[in-house]
This record gives sequence, C-alpha cells and structure tokens, in this order.
Amino acid sequence: MAVASESVPRHIAIVMDGNGRWASKRFLPRIAGHKQGVEVLKRTVRSCVQRGVAVLTVFAFSSENWKRPADEVSGLMDIMVAALSRELNALKKDGVHLQFIGEREALSQRVQQCLVEAERETSSNRTLTLNVCFNYGGRWDIVQAAQALAAAGESITEASLSRRLSTFATGDPDLVVRTGGEMRMSNFLLWQAAYSELYFSDVLWPDFDETALDHAIQAYVSRERRFGMTSAQLPGSSNPRV
Ligand code: FPP
Repeated sequence: MAVASESVPRHIAIVMDGNGRWASKRFLPRIAGHKQGVEVLKRTVRSCVQRGVAVLTVFAFSSENWKRPADEVSGLMDIMVAALSRELNALKKDGVHLQFIGEREALSQRVQQCLVEAERETSSNRTLTLNVCFNYGGRWDIVQAAQALAAAGESITEASLSRRLSTFATGDPDLVVRTGGEMRMSNFLLWQAAYSELYFSDVLWPDFDETALDHAIQAYVSRERRFGMTSAQLPGSSNPRV
C-alpha cells in the first residue's frame, strides 16, 4: 500500500546488506550478489523518486570493506565504474544528483575520476540526491570533521561539527533501513542517525523490492518522533500522554 507523500521520509539511508548470502544461496560467486544489488539500487532510486523522497543515502563500500578478499574488493570497484558509465544517462534523465561520500584518496585514480565526472554531470539535478557512501565510515566522518575544525581554529560545538560532516548539505536521515537480518549500524552515519528511526528487514538486499520499501516507509509513518520531548509536547498534539 502506498503512503501519502506528505508523510514519506524526506531522507532515507540504507545499509544494503545480504548480497553475499543471496549469491551463496544460488551457488553463485559473491560478486553476482553485488551485481544484483546494483539492479535493486536502480529500482529503489526510481521508487524513491516516485514517492517524493528527496535524499537517498546508501552504504556501498565501508572503510572496513578493504579487509575482504582482494578479488571481491576489486570486483566492487569494477561494479561501481561499470554502473556509473551504464546508468549515468538514466540518472540524469530522472533528475538524480549523485554525491559520493567518503575518503577518496585511497581509491584508484580511475575510480576517483568516475566519481568526479558523475558528480559534475548530475550537479544541476534537483529531483533526488543520491549519496553513495564509498570508502565511508561514521568514525572517519566525525574525525575528519573534528580535524577540519581544529585546522580552521574553530571551536567545537554540535552545530560546528555537524557543518563539517560529509553529509551536511543533505541533512540527517529520517529513516535508516538495514536489510539482510543483522541489527547493527556497522559504522554507518553514527552522528547523523542520532534521531533517525531504525528499521531492520530480514529481506536480503537483492530481494528488497518496492513492497519491502513500502513496509519500511509504513513502519516509519507509524512511529512517533519525539526528539527527547513527551508526546504531549509535540506540535499539534492533543495527546494527553506525558
Ligand atoms: C553488503 O552485503 C554489501 C556490500 C558490502 C556492498 C553493497 C554494494 C552494492 C549493493 C553495490 C552498490 C554499487 C554501486 C555502484 C553504488 P554483504 O556482501 O556483506 O552480504 P552478506 O552479509 O550476505 O555477506
């Protein structure tokens, strides 16, 4: 069942977990699961556009994923480069603005160039911003923000540190979804998710379809976000609960 557009989360973030298990269940190499994961990401971007979501942030490669077997790491890099060259025109047509979040210096020149080009080509798009976290870690993000403040001689406050986070332009996620049955953050958006609603799905990412996305959105809509207040204090509340 679709959800009224005014209650849809403005910003959804997703840990796309379960690609490896999806492939293993089919006696396929893990990389086949990641390839299918890209297809599902494509469909999810389109579904988010249709539902009026303004920002989608996805965890595509974590700071810790370098520890995986070398062929899986290089496979993920190749998938990123291939997906960008294949999908860029469609993303442009759909009004998607791509932004890559994470530590770029450790990536090869070839990958870095692809990211820069995709960002440049889509920079004027306004329908949906797709933040792709690539070589990203929540702790890295907080440390780089603190280092930037120290280098600029600025005082450290919640507001000043938030402004230096890599995701500042697109704001904090309203809803964080993790697929694949695990219930942890795995170093994703640690600061930004302080008041996000969390939703864990047993569905493996390559099986995460439109219905599964709508279940996540419906769960979000049914939550009461209090940001530390009581129910009765919320704007427009006639709720006597305290
Ligand atoms: C976690 O599943 C998934 C990843 C580490 C990679 C996610 C990447 C994609 C979906 C491709 C995105 C690509 C682009 C171009 C944005 P896992 O491998 O940990 O699965 P498992 O828990 O079943 O082993």
